[in-house]
Amino acid sequence: MNVPVPVAVIVLAAGAGTRMRSKTPKVLHEICGRSLLLHALDAARGTHTDQIVAVVRHERERVVGHLADVADDVLIADQDDIPGTGRAVQCGLDRVSAESGTVLVTYGDVPLLDAQTLQDLVAEHEEHGSAVTVLTARIADPTGYGRILRDPSGQGVLGIVEHKDADADQLAITEINSGIYAFDLAVLRSALQRIGTDNAQGEMYLTDVLAIAREDGGIVRALLTEDALLVEGVNDRVQLAQLGAEMRRRILERHMRAGVTLVDPATTWIDAEVSIGQDTIIRPGVQLLGATSIGEDAEIGPDSTLIDTDVADRASVVRTHANLAVIGEEATVGPFTYLRPGTELGARGKIGGFCETKNAVIGEGAKVPHLSYVGDAEIGEGTNLGAATIVANYDGVHKHRTVIGKHVHVGADSVLIAPVTIGDGADTGAGTTVRADVPPGALAVNATSMRIMEGWSLQRRAGTAAAQAAEAALANQQSVTRPEQGAEEEGNR
Ligand code: UD1
Ligand code: CA
Repeated sequence: MNVPVPVAVIVLAAGAGTRMRSKTPKVLHEICGRSLLLHALDAARGTHTDQIVAVVRHERERVVGHLADVADDVLIADQDDIPGTGRAVQCGLDRVSAESGTVLVTYGDVPLLDAQTLQDLVAEHEEHGSAVTVLTARIADPTGYGRILRDPSGQGVLGIVEHKDADADQLAITEINSGIYAFDLAVLRSALQRIGTDNAQGEMYLTDVLAIAREDGGIVRALLTEDALLVEGVNDRVQLAQLGAEMRRRILERHMRAGVTLVDPATTWIDAEVSIGQDTIIRPGVQLLGATSIGEDAEIGPDSTLIDTDVADRASVVRTHANLAVIGEEATVGPFTYLRPGTELGARGKIGGFCETKNAVIGEGAKVPHLSYVGDAEIGEGTNLGAATIVANYDGVHKHRTVIGKHVHVGADSVLIAPVTIGDGADTGAGTTVRADVPPGALAVNATSMRIMEGWSLQRRAGTAAAQAAEAALANQQSVTRPEQGAEEEGNR
């Protein structure tokens, strides 16, 4: 069956959201790595509609700025001084170019609503040739919500009465208006022209459209959702946390059902946008944030945070903090590793314990195994950096680039002072300070020869624990070695 497509979705986001007690507009607060508004827009996008319109007013510039960043396909409609959801939709309609068809109205602060529910709503609406279809839910405590007035047959809807305008009998109704609707576009335009502000809140109520459409002879129905959380809005930070927890639970469940092992869901946080391949294992204490993507058969964790990071198939990432990094197939990272933006680790490469990297492109099979800093550098395939190698990229004023070729062996504790190039197949001795380019195949060493000053600590550190320890060791050595080996020992020095 073809899924019917609405001609437009109008997302209301003009309200003040005062109960958040926040300098940030409500719809810009985030759960699972996305603003409430972006969650709402994603559901709208999932209907494949031609036009999405966001109605804004409160903190307009910040909301519009956010939209420009994350959803520049969305049309902006400004609500004027006339308050209420009816006016908001009327302003939104000014941006809708279609003349007929189905228009959906949703809220920018209802994050769990999904595209499937919106598609079901459009299908139900068009199947019955309805003028209005309102999405409803039954909830135990309907305080504050508009109540659904069903006609005696129970099929049609007579109208919606707002909590503040309801009488005692109406207040007892537990079927509530979610605020999400499918409208026939022509009916909506016409009815909105006839709505006033004569009610308890002095606002233009969108809910009044239902009774008007019915009086005009249109079919007005309700689609009751079993999943009341889908239509729950965020009004304060308590609800923000509750709906955030519920969304998180749903995201984790979706990944598990798609074939990802989450060893400990209780300590696993996965943002809405994250993708994970089949048979990947996520160990306890892992946060996969932003636009992170993980391939198949990978192992992540324990205790890792990956932000906007791509991990390819069969890679392993242990106790790592990574931001805007790319980790190749079968590569290994960690433990205790910090990957900063611009780190690209090639297939089968390794960045090991206590290493930090930034703007570093590390070739296939190349290894940075222990205690290193690599910044603004390129490392060729098959190269190995000895333990504690440091790429000194910053001279205090400027950052410079270091290029290390293929199959290079950098000796332990080398310092590469950028800008510097080490040619393919070159070596540096342990402890080398590389200040000039090293040609391919060359060995660079600059360590001075070792001097031994006998008894130095006994003289210069007399009385210290070190001096006492040395004295004891020397005395012990003499008593053991003197009888037959004394002369030989002397010669060995
Ligand atoms: C509205 C409904 C109510 C429903 C409830 C569900 C009306 C008259 N009432 O109530 O039946 O049960 O939602 O949550 O529609 N908004 C604007 N411009 C405005 C006013 C609101 O864009 O002038 C936006 C808000 O940003 C919000 C949404 O519309 O996203 C709902 O506003 P809110 O004030 O929460 O609606 P209620 O009066 O609670
Ligand atoms: Ca209100």
